[in-house]
Amino acid sequence: MDADEQQTQPWRPSSWQDKTALQQPQYDDDDQVEAVLERLRSLPPLVTSWEIESLRSELGDAAAGRRFLLQGGECAETLGQIDVGAITSRLKLLLQMSLVLVFGLKLPVVRVGRFAGQYAKPRSAGTETRDGVTLPSYRGDIINRSGFSPEDRSPDPRLMLDAYGHSALTLNFVRALSQGGFADLHHPEYWDVAFLGDSPMADDYLRIVDAIRESVSFMETIHEGPIENLQQVDFYTSHEALLLPYEEAVTRTVPRRPGTYNLSTHFPWIGLRTSSPRGAHVEYMRGIRNPIGVKVGPDSSVDDVKQLTRLLNPNRDPGRLTLITRFGTDEVESALPRFARAVADVGIPVLWCCDPMHGNTEVAENGYKPRRFDRIRDELELTFDVLEREGALLGGVHFELTGEDVTECIGGARGITESDLARAYRSAVDPRLNGEQALEIAFSIVRKRRSAS
Ligand code: PEP
Ligand code: CO
Repeated sequence: MDADEQQTQPWRPSSWQDKTALQQPQYDDDDQVEAVLERLRSLPPLVTSWEIESLRSELGDAAAGRRFLLQGGECAETLGQIDVGAITSRLKLLLQMSLVLVFGLKLPVVRVGRFAGQYAKPRSAGTETRDGVTLPSYRGDIINRSGFSPEDRSPDPRLMLDAYGHSALTLNFVRALSQGGFADLHHPEYWDVAFLGDSPMADDYLRIVDAIRESVSFMETIHEGPIENLQQVDFYTSHEALLLPYEEAVTRTVPRRPGTYNLSTHFPWIGLRTSSPRGAHVEYMRGIRNPIGVKVGPDSSVDDVKQLTRLLNPNRDPGRLTLITRFGTDEVESALPRFARAVADVGIPVLWCCDPMHGNTEVAENGYKPRRFDRIRDELELTFDVLEREGALLGGVHFELTGEDVTECIGGARGITESDLARAYRSAVDPRLNGEQALEIAFSIVRKRRSAS
């Protein structure tokens, strides 16, 4: 069935069940799964339809070059202990990066966290073998546990409820912080994080902070009083919509608004491994009103991406579909142009966003899985150039990052080397930029855009 035919088929939150669903766990006890899903269906939603519609409209602006999307956070959130310090420092870092981008690009920034629901992970192999013992792969804390015992790796449906609860707790804290003084533009110094003090970028950053403080005070003089909404910023949430029974259970209609929404997150995305237009994930996403992302990479086919675009954005809404590119530095120049042309041929607007992380993962000699700062920066810069040459526009960026002082990516201003990886490699799955590296990337985006204009 091609995209046009599939588009005419009726959609239901459960119609994905008629398609092939990759990357799903095999639960043992169907009754227990049903009881969990029933409970999920009865719990209050995490986000609202009007927030989702606002984001959709802001992403439409980003597709047209009037805003810029900054999406970032954990590769995989974990259950168990919620690290309040890590949430706060990640939020501060995203605020700092957005400040650099707003100031440098002269555009409002849409902030979307990879948080409050980023618990399911696609895996290349269904099983993992250690010392002759083979167990199911770890698929993220919403499905099983990362320890290597049969109990840990057995999929447990109750983890869906834990993940929903943890998402609610995380989002509640993020909302409280971003509505309160924490995000107050009168006090950008509140967002200082420890690494900044002796960072080579401290001067550049502090100059921006001073300039903002001056602009705010200038505006308030003209306005003859405080400007209220400078005290708040919006954060939206996103996660990979991988575990389809969960996503279906949090899909609802709302009073006085047409359409069906996934009310567990603002912006669900489809990962590379589940992005076939014939698959269950695309079928599920086809019918929800949320803005959605789809990863596109070296293994994607041009024809599939054309079909995806038609299936997922038949009404040609500029904010509906974000294509998140992750080709890797070596392949982006040769591969991306044909996708850009294909999308232009279809004539449906999309927001192009670059994930320079997932195409650039290596295995170091000491066994760690790092990414190199230079290659991350280079893929971003090449993506800006390629899209511009093709008459398209890079309107957003997507990172795995943390505000904590980790050593998971090699390079950056402080010159982290392979032998530093052992010092603080803490990620459960993929390597993240630390605060200093992430801020440096924000500056490099600004430099790139300035030199292009
Ligand atoms: C991810 O974003 O963590 C991920 C698994 O990405 P991809 O689907 O692009 O491999
Ligand atoms: Co990842």
